[in-house]
This record gives sequence, C-alpha cells and structure tokens, in this order.
Amino acid sequence: MEPVEKCHLLIGCTGSVASIKLPELLKLFLKQAIDGRHFEIKVIATKNAFHFIPTREMPTNVTVYSDEDEWTSWKIMSDPVLHIELRRWADVLLIAPLNANTMAKMANGLCDNLLTCTIRAWDRMKPLYFCPAMNTYMWDHPLTAKHVKELKGLGYTEIPCVAKRLACGDVGYGGMAEVGTIVNEVVRRMF
Ligand SMILES: Cc1cc2nc3c(=O)[nH]c(=O)nc-3n(C[C@H](O)[C@H](O)[C@H](O)COP(=O)(O)O)c2cc1C
Repeated sequence: MEPVEKCHLLIGCTGSVASIKLPELLKLFLKQAIDGRHFEIKVIATKNAFHFIPTREMPTNVTVYSDEDEWTSWKIMSDPVLHIELRRWADVLLIAPLNANTMAKMANGLCDNLLTCTIRAWDRMKPLYFCPAMNTYMWDHPLTAKHVKELKGLGYTEIPCVAKRLACGDVGYGGMAEVGTIVNEVVRRMF
C-alpha cells in the first residue's frame, strides 16, 4: 500500500475496561508525525463502551460517534448512511479494545449497531486491526480461538493481547496490548 499524507484512522471501541485507555491511545496517535504524515481520527463507540471511556480526558479534535448518530443522521432515502460514510472516509480501521461479545459478532457477521455495521460493510482491501481484551477465562475459552481464526481468515490483523493481572484480579492472557505497541503496528503499515 502507498503511504498517505493524512491517514484517516477510524477507531472502534467496545465495552471492555480497556476502553479507559482510549484518550491515551488517541493522544499517542495524534503525536505521530513522520515527514508531514499524520493521523486524523474518528471513533465509533458501542453503547457499553461509554461506561468506560473517560470523556473529559478525550482530545477535543476527535469526534466520537454513537449508535444514536446512525439514526439521527438518517431520515429520508437521500440522507447519507453513517456507517457507509465512515467506511468511505477511513483508510484503516482499528478496533481497540475488541471485547468477546463484539468479536463473536464479527466472526459471525452480525451487524446490529454502528460499529458492527461499519465492520460488516468494511472494504477488505483496506487494513483492519483488532486488539482483543477480555477476562482470562473468556480468552481461554475455545470459542475465542475459533473467532480469532475466523477474523484472521478474513484478512484482519490481530494485535495480540498480553498476560497480566487484569482489572478483575485474574492473572493471565486477555489484557489489551500496550498502547505503544498498538500505535507502532499501525504506524509501521500506514506511514
Ligand atoms: C465492569 C465490566 C467490565 C467488562 N470488561 C470486559 C472486557 O474487558 N472484555 C470483555 O470481553 N467483556 C467485558 N465486559 C462485558 C461486556 O461489557 C459485555 O459483553 C457487553 O455486552 C459488551 O457490549 P459491546 O460488545 O456492545 O460493547 C465487562 C462488563 C463489565 C460490567
């Protein structure tokens, strides 16, 4: 893929404790500038992601879309459809964190909210990254390996989770990759 001057980065954020790191992730992406190349960012958050996103710490130049935006912006046939507009706008889609629920929906093609509709309508010629984040027992469940395999088979790139003491106290795999690791992966491909 040819490098782009301004990279349109669309971030999907799901209901996981790791969504607390969204402002940190955004700020690190916005700091990246190599030979004039930089990121312009939009976020789609699921309804449950809003329980975790510290909205007061969010950079003001990043728009966060919710499920309501999909329906308030569409009234008649000639209106734009938000999930299609966002897919057209984006050069890359990063889902961080990707929880077990939305991962299962992705693996099975469900599209019942703004984020999963955008994913289902994604142009697979463009990169899609996903960063799993879930409890260790969820991670170790055989369904997770099946879903990850399915997503990789679609050409999506996993940024693997890490082992640590999770917010719930369990120790093991399931922690979202470090913010720096995620940013480096995307920068390497897009810049
Ligand atoms: C406090 C709390 C923390 C949670 N953290 C996670 C998590 O890190 N990963 C996960 O897969 N699910 C987690 N869940 C469960 C999801 O929020 C739940 O499956 C929800 O339906 C996800 O909705 P969404 O996929 O539409 O965002 C958590 C739930 C609660 C109450």
